[in-house]
Amino acid sequence: PRPILLTRHGESRDNVRGRIGSDSGLSDTGEIYAKKLANFVEKRLKNERAASIWTSTLQRTILTAGSIVGFPKIQWRALEEINAGVCDGMTYEEIKKNMPEEYESRKKDKLRYRYPRGESYLDVIQRLEPVIIELERQRAPVVVISHQAVLRALYSYFADRPLKEVPHIEIPLHTIIEIQMGVTGVQEKRYKLMD
Ligand code: F6P
Repeated sequence: PRPILLTRHGESRDNVRGRIGSDSGLSDTGEIYAKKLANFVEKRLKNERAASIWTSTLQRTILTAGSIVGFPKIQWRALEEINAGVCDGMTYEEIKKNMPEEYESRKKDKLRYRYPRGESYLDVIQRLEPVIIELERQRAPVVVISHQAVLRALYSYFADRPLKEVPHIEIPLHTIIEIQMGVTGVQEKRYKLMD
C-alpha cells in the first residue's frame, strides 16, 4: 500500500511573530526542518520512482520542499491555508482586541465561522475535494506539504474523524504524519523530526 505523508511547512517568520495567514518565508528553525524533511523523504521514498511532492502556492511550503530532490513537485492553490480575510496578518490577540465579536463567534463555532471576506473550515473542506480525489487516484506515494487548517481537514478525511473535531485536531509543526491505506483500514505513524 502506498503511503501519504502529511506535513506542515517548516516554522515561518509569521509563526514566530504569531501572525496568521500571509506569505512569509521560513525562520532559521523552519529552514533546518526543510533539510531534515528532505533527508527523511529521500530515505523513506528511495525506490519510489513515481512519488511526488505536493505543496500550496505559498512561499513557506515551496521553501520547505526546496531541499527535496529527485521527485516532481506540484503546486496546488487548493492546498493554501484557510483565508483569514480581513484578519490576514493579524495575531489572535489583535483580533480579540480590535474585533471582539468576530473573535467570539469563531470561538463559539470554529467549524462554521467564516472570516469576513475569507473562509470557514467548511469552505476549506469543500475546496479540498479535487485534491482528495486526486490523492485517492494516486498509486505512488505523495508528500503533502501544506498548512495547519488544510491538514486538519485532509487528516480527518483519511482518519475518518467527525466533522466537528476537524478545527481542533492537533497538527504540530516539524512532524510527519504517515497514513497507509490497507485492507484492514487506515494505519498511522508520526515522525517528529525536531523538538
Ligand atoms: O498560525 C498558523 C496558521 O496556519 C494560520 O495561518 C491559520 O490562520 C491558522 O494556523 C489556522 O489555525 P486555527 O484555525 O486554529 O486558527
